[in-house]
Amino acid sequence: MKKIIIAIDGYSSCGKSTLAKALAKKLHYLFLDSGAMYRAITYYFIEHKVNTNQLTEVEKALKNIQLSFQFNKETADNHILLNGINVDKEIRSMAINAKVSEVAAIAEVRKFAVAQQQQIGLNKGIVMDGRDIGTTVFPNAELKIFVTADTTVRVERRFKELYASNPNITIEDVKANLEMRDYIDTNRTESPLRKADDAKLLDNTNLNKEEQLNIAYQWAMEKINAF
Ligand code: DC
Repeated sequence: MKKIIIAIDGYSSCGKSTLAKALAKKLHYLFLDSGAMYRAITYYFIEHKVNTNQLTEVEKALKNIQLSFQFNKETADNHILLNGINVDKEIRSMAINAKVSEVAAIAEVRKFAVAQQQQIGLNKGIVMDGRDIGTTVFPNAELKIFVTADTTVRVERRFKELYASNPNITIEDVKANLEMRDYIDTNRTESPLRKADDAKLLDNTNLNKEEQLNIAYQWAMEKINAF
């Protein structure tokens, strides 16, 4: 069967990665959460105290960053390695949440990440989620999905997720961070978050995970069968 590229974009915390991973598993495709790459770069920048206002420092740091992945075909889990070390947990902290949109807005950082994303997608058969996958990374993706959900619902979902590892977190912290990231992601000069003209809109405010998966799977099969 012909393999396609599926691009899933949308705002922070609207379940893009969960949907992308479930869809990849069902289709036996590769799954890549492109946000994890920006998070790993941010983690490196923080650890190495890189001054993000100094382009030469950013360029030098990027030369020392090697991102790789460990993909499990059975579960569709894709672990991210920063210079050979698994950083799955480290990249999900509030410290990273607070800084990642700023790092992801730097043109050199985007060039670095996008080149690698395009390389990974060369053989198709991939579901990739992010902010600019359908607009910049794979403008010719056969299927593009733009996911949205009400802000209140997104805040609640993200709060539950973060509270498990950090009981000191408040719903106000999560809301403020989410709104800040939405603002930076949407208003930056480099590949701002926007729905590609040919993307299908999926508002999952009132949909559970299974319902979303069924819709996305049906869209994917229509595209695959169209070949
Ligand atoms: O999806 P996420 O919350 O893990 O993404 C983290 C940040 O990375 C987010 O604030 C925006 C940025 N990002 C991006 O600019 N482009 C992508 N393709 C993916 C994520």
